[in-house]
Amino acid sequence: MGALRMTPAEIQARIDTLPRVPIALRNTPLEEAKHLSKVLGGPRIFVKRDDLTGVALGGNKLRNLEFRLAHAMIDRPDTVIVGLDLQSNSARQTVGACNKLGLKAILVLEGAKPAEVQGNLLIDYLLGADVHFAPDRHVQRQMLDQLAAQVRATGGRPHILNDNPMFDVASAVAYLETTLEVVSQLQKNDLTPNYFYMSSSGKGSAGIILAQKLLGLPFAMHGVPATDEFHIPSRTAAIANESAAALGLDLVIEESDITSFDNFVGQAYGIPSAAGDEAVRLFARTEGIVLDPIYTGKAAAGLVAHIREGRFNSSDIVVFVHTGGTPAVFTWNELWL
Ligand SMILES: Cc1ncc(COP(=O)(O)O)c(C=O)c1O
Repeated sequence: MGALRMTPAEIQARIDTLPRVPIALRNTPLEEAKHLSKVLGGPRIFVKRDDLTGVALGGNKLRNLEFRLAHAMIDRPDTVIVGLDLQSNSARQTVGACNKLGLKAILVLEGAKPAEVQGNLLIDYLLGADVHFAPDRHVQRQMLDQLAAQVRATGGRPHILNDNPMFDVASAVAYLETTLEVVSQLQKNDLTPNYFYMSSSGKGSAGIILAQKLLGLPFAMHGVPATDEFHIPSRTAAIANESAAALGLDLVIEESDITSFDNFVGQAYGIPSAAGDEAVRLFARTEGIVLDPIYTGKAAAGLVAHIREGRFNSSDIVVFVHTGGTPAVFTWNELWL
């Protein structure tokens, strides 16, 4: 790891060199969860409310889309086509962002249209997306290309977002900036963070670890992924290094710099877990903060488990990044009845 140290203003200046379109509401609030902390007998917990980024019910991808869609705009598209999962938060936020920018959005979602349309899919329709369904990734890819060809044939200018090279870097840069926000918000109360917790499979968490190294702050970044699809330490380090290069920074993040807890996925990606559901109820019933059972609930389960294991002092400052995903509480409605 290089020993590059930068001020927040210097880091922000690097971020500001990247093309960007304004989409998200920023800065999001940093809210102290005093009742939650009291109930858990735990450290001081601050929730970074990135569920409140505004467009289409908010979430982490709106920050990412500011950079990703700016890159897409180089080709002056009028239509954005993207292939994602059936209940994707990213899809919902992409359609909302496209609406704001005056772009038509076409979704190709993996799966079949359910008998009852709920959660993110419901919002996709509400936002006016042209929604298509693909039985698997292979067919999804063919459909993306076919739909792009159709748009072109009628004089349109399509951009297939899956081919946009900025996805990983956009998320990491977005969460590098979010960390600057958090550090500044805490500093106003003369506080500095000791730990960050966030649902991430490597993109957002790469940004937080970059911030930690660049600012030279002694906090620990604890990523809690919602999937076991990746080897998170190598993926996170690679994304962090790619992002550092995109910002012109001479810094190397090693796999050993990454801390990720993969024991909160539960049965599988996309399936709620008992510990995650308990954490969703706990945040809701102590703070009125609605998490989701697929991403943020599982990350919160990691934090709750670590508090119960006695890992923290009562004066520790723990930042929990709420990355959004709340429409999933409607998809999984029976969990809360
Ligand atoms: C609500 C929510 N939290 C966290 C994540 C993970 O984000 P990343 O792996 O990009 O850091 C996602 C992305 O899919 C998400 O939808």
